[in-house]
Amino acid sequence: MNIQENRSLKSHNTFGIDVRARYFASFATTEEILELIEFKGQSAGKPQRPILILGGGSNILFTKDFDGLVLKNELSGIKEVKEDTHHIYVRVGAGVVWHEFVLHCLHQNWAGVENLALIPGNVGASPIQNIGAYGVEVKNVIQSVEALHIGDRKTHLFSVNDCEFGYRESIFKKKYRGQFVITAVNFRLNKSPDLNISYGTVKQELERMGVKELNIQTIAKAVIHIRSSKLPDPKLIGNAGSFFKNPHVSADTFLALKERFPRIVGYVQENGDYKLAAGWLIEHCGPAEGESWKGYRRGDAGCHAWQSLVLVNYGQASGKEIFDLSEAILQSVKKTFGVELEREVNIL
Ligand code: FAD
Ligand code: EPU
Repeated sequence: MNIQENRSLKSHNTFGIDVRARYFASFATTEEILELIEFKGQSAGKPQRPILILGGGSNILFTKDFDGLVLKNELSGIKEVKEDTHHIYVRVGAGVVWHEFVLHCLHQNWAGVENLALIPGNVGASPIQNIGAYGVEVKNVIQSVEALHIGDRKTHLFSVNDCEFGYRESIFKKKYRGQFVITAVNFRLNKSPDLNISYGTVKQELERMGVKELNIQTIAKAVIHIRSSKLPDPKLIGNAGSFFKNPHVSADTFLALKERFPRIVGYVQENGDYKLAAGWLIEHCGPAEGESWKGYRRGDAGCHAWQSLVLVNYGQASGKEIFDLSEAILQSVKKTFGVELEREVNIL
């Protein structure tokens, strides 16, 4: 067991926040996790110091040093388990980089994750917030999730229903928050693709690219183009993707807002509610009357100029400064539109 003390986490979170972990270690097997959980009197069911399971750090904002044990997940392996007429069943280690898994599927011609290309992070974090993009959510292809309970030290198998997936939600983010280490995800991928180009910008990008043959590879390519042109690369500017979720409101609320703000962007949902584009709301209010948050910068904390749903660290911002900016935006949206935003990013 190689446990480091007072280790900087700057290179382990895509916001690039320079905080320290009291203890830090990596694990590549379940046995190593079990050993690490026992570390320094972290007795069964009653850990004395908090434990944080870390993937790619692309959905976390550290606001202070972590006074506990950070465990970096390096469980590897993509294994074909079985196949039937229509599907291929694959078990993937939680430490596999998500986009590498997507590339593997594209190479094998396994369909279902092409719209989720280029999402940062690891496979093990994908069920935590049920990652989604361009009309697809990972729950559509998950068959089950294997997770080790930090308290009882046993591996549990969660079916899709057990996971209670919702929009950027799952049981691992709510009821079981912080209680499990996801060790592997079992996927059911399609042999014959059910292509999804329902998202307007994907259709437009395919046209712009002059794509003649629609397949999973061309869809992934279009998604990669869109993402690269819209979202800042964390290697260049620290960020964690969308900072807030897109809020859901009732049809009545949406119509009332539409009357006051005719250009407001909202999408009707299956249950009749509307999902508002939080980026639009943030763009259309600001730090002062007549100003916009889009492109706003306070010190090194900012709201990105291309996509106002993305908060950024231009270099030396602290997590607290980014959090304070998010709070100012949240209050401003509430005051202007009467809509409460919810943070998507995990605040620590
Ligand atoms: P981390 O940030 O390391 O962890 C996130 C949370 O999950 C933490 O609470 C952590 O403790 C927990 N966790 C991680 N791994 C495990 C595990 N194995 N077991 C138990 N708990 C675990 N998300 C989308 O849904 N759609 C997008 O389109 C999207 N675009 C993005 C674009 C950019 C540029 C960035 C930076 C982020 C984007 N995200 C998006 C957010 C992010 O990529 C996802 O949430 C991703 O799944 C996080 O993976 P991670 O490995 O980095 O998780
Ligand atoms: N918009 C604005 N101004 C902005 C940003 C957006 O007006 O500054 C409006 C535009 O009308 C635009 C609409 O919002 O058409 C939607 O924008 P976009 O297509 O960029 O998507 P989003 O709603 O901002 C969501 C997800 C992303 C995901 C994309 C594509 C959430 C919180 N975010 O963003 O996920 O990649 O759709 O599906 O649901 C993430 O979760 O981290 C993330 C990046």
